[in-house]
Amino acid sequence: MTEQSDLFSAPAPADQAQPAIKIKALRDQLNHWAHQYYVLDEPAVPDAEYDRLFRELQGLEAAHPDLVTPDSPTQRVVGAVMEGLASVRHAVPMLSIHTETDTEATGAQAFDARVRRELGLSDADPAIEYVAEPKFDGLAMSLRYENGRLVQAATRGDGEVGEDVTHNIRTIRQIPLTLPDGVPPILEVRGEVYMRRADFDALNERQREQGGKTFVNPRNAAAGAVRQLDSNITAQRPLSFFAYGLGAITPPGEGGPVFRTHYEMLLTLKSWGFPVAAQVQIATGATELVAFHQQVGASRDALPYDIDGVVYKVNSLQLQRDLGFKTREPRWAVAHKYPAQEMATKVEGIDVQVGRTGKITPVARLMPVFVGGVTVTNATLHNLFEIRKKGVRVGDQVIVRRAGDVIPEVVGVMPPLTDATEIISVDGVPIKQRHGNPPREIYVPNFRMPSKCPVCGSDVVREKGEANHRCTGGLFCAAQRKEAILHFAARRAMDIEGLGDKLVDQLVDANVIRTLPDLYRLGLTSLIALERMAEKSAQNVLAALEKSKQTTLPRFLFGLGLRHVGEATAKDLARHFGTLDAIMDASVEQLLEVNDVGPVVAQSLHTFFQQPHNREVVEQLRACGVTWPEGPVAERAPQILAGKTVVLTGTLPTLSRDAAKDMLEAAGAKVAGSVSKKTSYVVAGEEAGSKLAKAEELGVPVLDEAGMLALLSGTGA
Ligand code: IVH
Repeated sequence: MTEQSDLFSAPAPADQAQPAIKIKALRDQLNHWAHQYYVLDEPAVPDAEYDRLFRELQGLEAAHPDLVTPDSPTQRVVGAVMEGLASVRHAVPMLSIHTETDTEATGAQAFDARVRRELGLSDADPAIEYVAEPKFDGLAMSLRYENGRLVQAATRGDGEVGEDVTHNIRTIRQIPLTLPDGVPPILEVRGEVYMRRADFDALNERQREQGGKTFVNPRNAAAGAVRQLDSNITAQRPLSFFAYGLGAITPPGEGGPVFRTHYEMLLTLKSWGFPVAAQVQIATGATELVAFHQQVGASRDALPYDIDGVVYKVNSLQLQRDLGFKTREPRWAVAHKYPAQEMATKVEGIDVQVGRTGKITPVARLMPVFVGGVTVTNATLHNLFEIRKKGVRVGDQVIVRRAGDVIPEVVGVMPPLTDATEIISVDGVPIKQRHGNPPREIYVPNFRMPSKCPVCGSDVVREKGEANHRCTGGLFCAAQRKEAILHFAARRAMDIEGLGDKLVDQLVDANVIRTLPDLYRLGLTSLIALERMAEKSAQNVLAALEKSKQTTLPRFLFGLGLRHVGEATAKDLARHFGTLDAIMDASVEQLLEVNDVGPVVAQSLHTFFQQPHNREVVEQLRACGVTWPEGPVAERAPQILAGKTVVLTGTLPTLSRDAAKDMLEAAGAKVAGSVSKKTSYVVAGEEAGSKLAKAEELGVPVLDEAGMLALLSGTGA
């Protein structure tokens, strides 16, 4: 941190020439970054880095007012209208809000004090009522409705003139295209278009799998999606929207509504069908603003979307009018920031980690940096191709992102400094060595994927067409052994309660468990010997193990974690063969007779049971007392959904996901994880996301829980 924070902060030069040079250099650098950010949609540096230089420029200009020029980035709202999208002049300008950069409680107190002072209130006067809202990290949007129909959607642009992105905004499901009767004939709703973190992660995962470009953060992905010329591309990037204000509206004199408060206006927008964030609340006085800042800050990681702060707004619209504006910012609102979720730091080394499926992930060891509210020392680089694509080298300055509970990741390298910035080094500050990366003509990577697994020493391979490298050690590799045990213990497999991540780590690391049967050889003494294991919990684990011994053949087969054998296949196998021995002794041809078993699965099953060590594991498990009823599996329930594929999404009101899955499968349906043209039904509950959108896009019938139950009882769809 200290290494970076003194960038551009050389001691104040004695003569006048130097501030001018420095101011110019800062402006050039800021303009360059702003162009990359707003016009190219390719941010080069974290916002915090931009803000820091911006503040430094503001400071210098304040000290040298004679050097302030109208074209300085401090003197205008940055933004640009892209070629290709039509310009829209906003009927009411889209303003920005003053930002309180102080991330401590004092930021809220300072705002409240300022408002009280402007209104001429004394300490004796009552507290002011505010509305406190999250500050969504997306892009501002103005939606214009005429006679209840969406006629235009425009970006903020420079605040006066934005871009017409109506064609793209129409693809956002959360934005109503028509409004209920009774809305004012002219209505402009202002709010934020953003991308939920889960949608962003899925999008990037998809891009990575397809070898496409990954996005730096949800805001950037959202901005890119909104400004597409082709709305088909936008439609594939799941966007969301929150309303937080109004632009033009039919005046009360012409029949428009009369709002007394900002909150009342938000509630009305909500009743008209616009999403308003659940976190929005009324806060009275500075104390409640501080509490809101803290409370939202504490739950920031748990929110499904990125926020970079909170916004406080004076609730009374009359008071808002009294307070008015200061140049382009309202005096009645302020943005109060949280620590940045992206920061620059240095890669000190690159290690690899072996995941539970054998996947080898390169991890950057970083110079510690405070990002997203915690100190981060490691960040994932995903895979070798990502390192190459991003051009990361050990020794580079990189941008690290940590948002939500996700693992911090390196999103890119800091670009080399522009020529203009190098001028600053006349001050004698060796910037090039301390900030950004030295300019490079060609990228020569200095990290190589190891050829042996660092955990077990087995060969590391990458299959054709795969982005990931894998350890070939299988159960011999401790990292993978943990995964196999967890899978065996999973609820839908052997259902061993209490045998979770932490315990499995301890057991494998202490070498108490090497193979699955070792689980059933665990005794009280070896469990209690583990750190933080009380006798009571140890007894519970043993009881759960004992209970799991009475199982079913499909659960046992699924628990073995054979490649390609999911729950459905395990059930089909059990039904077809009746006994485990019959399955183990089956030829490839016999296996192929099973419903849904193709050549790949048949071969892999056959090979598995041909290995003496695998048969040995099965025998030992049986010897430990694992048993299930053998013989022909009971006749099945009527297969009214045979041949149908169903996708579950969101939270159902009464049924758990597992229960719904069981019911559907019992009726012969296949339950799939993703929606395609072949999907027969999507069953959607609360908080359903992109799968629901996909279903609607493809015209797949969507059912709620009741609809699903009706279908199962034979009375539905
Ligand atoms: S109110 C006059 N409320 O922050 C006030 N803005 O500079 C107009 N933003 O680009 C904005 N969350 O897109 C407001 N709850 C919120 C917001 C919010 C995010 C963005 C907005 C604008 C910037 C303000």
